[in-house]
Amino acid sequence: MTSVGIDAIEIWTGKLKLDLAETFAPEMGDDPEKYTKGLGLHASSFPDAYEDIVTMGANAAHRLMERKGLQPDDVGRIDVATESAFDNSKPVSTYIAGCLEQVYDGDFHHANKGERKFACIAGTQSLDDAVNWILAGRNRGRGALVVATDTALYARDSSGEATQGAGAVAMWITEDPDVVELSTEQGYGSADETDFLKPNQQFPSVDGKRSMQVYLARMREALQDFEGVMGASHPDDYAYIPFHTPFPGMVRKAAVLGYRHMIRGTEIEDELAEDIGRQPRRDDFDDQESFEDAISEYVDGLTDTDAYREWYADTIEPTLSISSQVGNWYTGSVHIARFSALKHAAENDIDLAGQKLLVASYGSGAQAEIHAETVQDGFEESVAASNVDEQIAARYDISFDEYEQVHDRHNHEKSVELEPFTQPDSEFVFDGWGPMNERK
Ligand code: HMG
Repeated sequence: MTSVGIDAIEIWTGKLKLDLAETFAPEMGDDPEKYTKGLGLHASSFPDAYEDIVTMGANAAHRLMERKGLQPDDVGRIDVATESAFDNSKPVSTYIAGCLEQVYDGDFHHANKGERKFACIAGTQSLDDAVNWILAGRNRGRGALVVATDTALYARDSSGEATQGAGAVAMWITEDPDVVELSTEQGYGSADETDFLKPNQQFPSVDGKRSMQVYLARMREALQDFEGVMGASHPDDYAYIPFHTPFPGMVRKAAVLGYRHMIRGTEIEDELAEDIGRQPRRDDFDDQESFEDAISEYVDGLTDTDAYREWYADTIEPTLSISSQVGNWYTGSVHIARFSALKHAAENDIDLAGQKLLVASYGSGAQAEIHAETVQDGFEESVAASNVDEQIAARYDISFDEYEQVHDRHNHEKSVELEPFTQPDSEFVFDGWGPMNERK
């Protein structure tokens, strides 16, 4: 079977930074630790006046094409995943292709372009579409450009305001990839839900607490479905488990769910049983409430054990480093989590090639998807070529007043004037409607 997966990854963060502990929490009258410890977030990225989903996506894609020495002819598909689209007809991939065509001699006239929408999971769905296209042998030797790009903003004074972010991830999908090969097996958990939605509106209507429950419920179903096709997983099977990360605190909850699922019936559950008992089973309880109380008690005990703490520190914590600095990037979020883990391994000389990742994607509305990936020998090169740390460090730190202006600008779909806080540096910029997104 042909090996297909991600050959290269590039990340582009919005150029502004909102410091949640220093700038946001005091204005909200909150304890900064609610953000840094409770949600696990230190800062969120925001787009500067000349940035939007097109420019961020095009800039990430351009870095990727330059690094891989690609020309438009090499690209057979451009798949964009976003839930911040501004055009109900033309897909964002056409705008991104238009940007890229300004700087290459060739064009993308023979590439299939589209836009995927299913909240945050659309990034992984686009990746799957690209992989399936190659596996089906329809690619004529070409690769696919997958771009996940979003400005994840919530209405002012809503609870979601704590978990915003903006940025893009570009991935190059090919045969014999350098970074990760995707498993053909997948597990799904999917149901019609209304806890987070944007029907013809700029900002989401969101029931935050319920959205967390729905995330966990769909993730549980996807884990079960994946186990159905792959057989039981063991915590030692995976070097890292990148989850969709709206904020690291959500992943803390998802990780316990995953661990409980994987230790069921293993020697780990047997060993832990001496201290914290066995996992409660619904059949042993008369009602749902007492079952949930027992689960909650078991989880408290489990997360205090050395076995769990070590597994979490090794397998989950490394996936959260970028996200804790940039916030939720919606469709890009799980792909940042994967990249954080690869970066951690490269920086700590961890011999990751040949090891497996379990990638757990999620989108409100709601659907979770689980698949496995095998890390390839070239992953370190992709990490070494990234300047994500420099980008994060170079962001302009906005004051609360400036944050309000930036938010207003995006609320009114760019009709509010805003002086840029930073200067573009050889990149695509939004320059008003008409001839747009020029490279400056
Ligand atoms: P909130 O009411 O602002 O926060 O809502 P909270 O009061 O629940 O506090 C958050 C955590 O901080 C809690 O931890 C507190 O205990 C803790 P938990 O009990 O959950 O473990 N805390 C503190 N810790 C230490 N020191 C303190 C302190 N104070 C409190 N002083 C919420 C938080 C996430 C609900 C809100 O920000 C929100 O609505 N966000 C948007 C929705 C969202 O992100 N949902 C996540 C699941 S759905 C999803 O991931 C899909 C999504 O990405 C969209 C898509 O798919 O397109 C959103």
